Amino acid sequence: MAKKKILVTGGAGYIGSHACVELLQADYDIVVVDNLSNSKTESLARVQNITGKALGFYQADIRDRTALTEIFAKEVIDTVIHFAGLKAVGESCAKPDLYYHNNVYGTLVLTEAMQAAGVKELVFSSSATVYGESTSPQYAEDFPLGAINPYGRSKAMIEDILRDLSAADAINHESRPWKIALLRYFNPIGAHESGLIGEDPNGIPNNLMPYVSQVAIGKLVQLSVFGNDYPTPDGTGIRDYIHVVDLVKGHIKAIEALDGDGFAAGGCRPYNLGTGQGYSVLEIVDAFERVTGRPINYKIVGRRAGDLAECFANPDRALQELGWRAEKNLDDMVADTWNWQSKNPQGFA
Ligand code: NAD
Ligand code: UFG
Repeated sequence: MAKKKILVTGGAGYIGSHACVELLQADYDIVVVDNLSNSKTESLARVQNITGKALGFYQADIRDRTALTEIFAKEVIDTVIHFAGLKAVGESCAKPDLYYHNNVYGTLVLTEAMQAAGVKELVFSSSATVYGESTSPQYAEDFPLGAINPYGRSKAMIEDILRDLSAADAINHESRPWKIALLRYFNPIGAHESGLIGEDPNGIPNNLMPYVSQVAIGKLVQLSVFGNDYPTPDGTGIRDYIHVVDLVKGHIKAIEALDGDGFAAGGCRPYNLGTGQGYSVLEIVDAFERVTGRPINYKIVGRRAGDLAECFANPDRALQELGWRAEKNLDDMVADTWNWQSKNPQGFA
């Protein structure tokens, strides 16, 4: 059977570009739709260098109904992987309307265009940030939801919309129901082993790993460690860091699962994509110094508002139902981050 054709929204971005590499290497045909609001076409040129294969590209905004309708009319798409979105928590607090418009409205336009074209297989980039307060730091998919900032709420709203769309199939006696995987990412880091693609944040990074690697290369002077008085062994925050290549392999497993018995009658189901293992901020700093041989200058400062002490995945469902588990360890994540950063000190610029 011929491999499917996949439309990848946000495919020029950090995670999307790594997904394009894995999809092309697995012989899928792909078409990328990206408005380049947080990326450059250079990432896609490099995807094609790494794989020796071509992909289709449309510079378009997912909120542009006419553009999406034309793309679905021109390309025979089987499945959509939906990465396109804005993702900065701080910016989402300052500009909530922008986040709801881009992420939530954008997804509605996309699903309407899909439905009109008869494309009903979707893999969605959700986030561990949709989870609410919990007594256990190891989050399973059935834990209560309760995002605490507009970015997180935009993801939670999209999950609700997608669940409702899927539930409506039964009421409407749809012969071709929606098949939707909601992939809740924990903390993606690292880069492709070639060092040709990686994370290229605009301005000063918000996230730990890009900040640490920019300190290591001398672009930034000092890391601020946000709090060392959490109830964790060394007092700093613990997260579940996952190699971006492992993460995108989970998307390929999800596409395959949508064709399997578990989704035979359709459905919309969440899956955690994490390793199940947490590391503290100081453990990340130590690993970076050990693997790269570079000193990381840091100081302890106060806690960052909205941060949890500890958050890591229960990844059992992804293993049982998708046959996926993360394979790379923290040293791989650090080595690949550093390989990308040191070969591309200015990112894709
Ligand atoms: P990214 O910013 O590198 O990639 C997102 C891409 O989407 C960019 O290329 C951007 O230009 C594009 N885009 C944004 N809005 C668009 C629109 N309206 N129309 C067309 N294209 C648009 O981010 P990323 O880290 O690759 O994240 C991909 C997805 O994963 C996002 O939805 C993000 O919310 C989600 N996610 C990321 C993380 C993380 O830590 N990186 C964690 C959890 C979830
Ligand atoms: N941290 C620092 N200094 C920094 C940056 C981060 O000490 O300069 C600490 C944070 O306090 C936290 C840990 O490093 O303890 C990780 O912080 P990140 O900002 O890298 O990641 P978060 O877990 O806060 O958030 C990430 C994404 C969110 C997403 C969330 C859950 O940035 O978009 O994971 O998926 F919602």
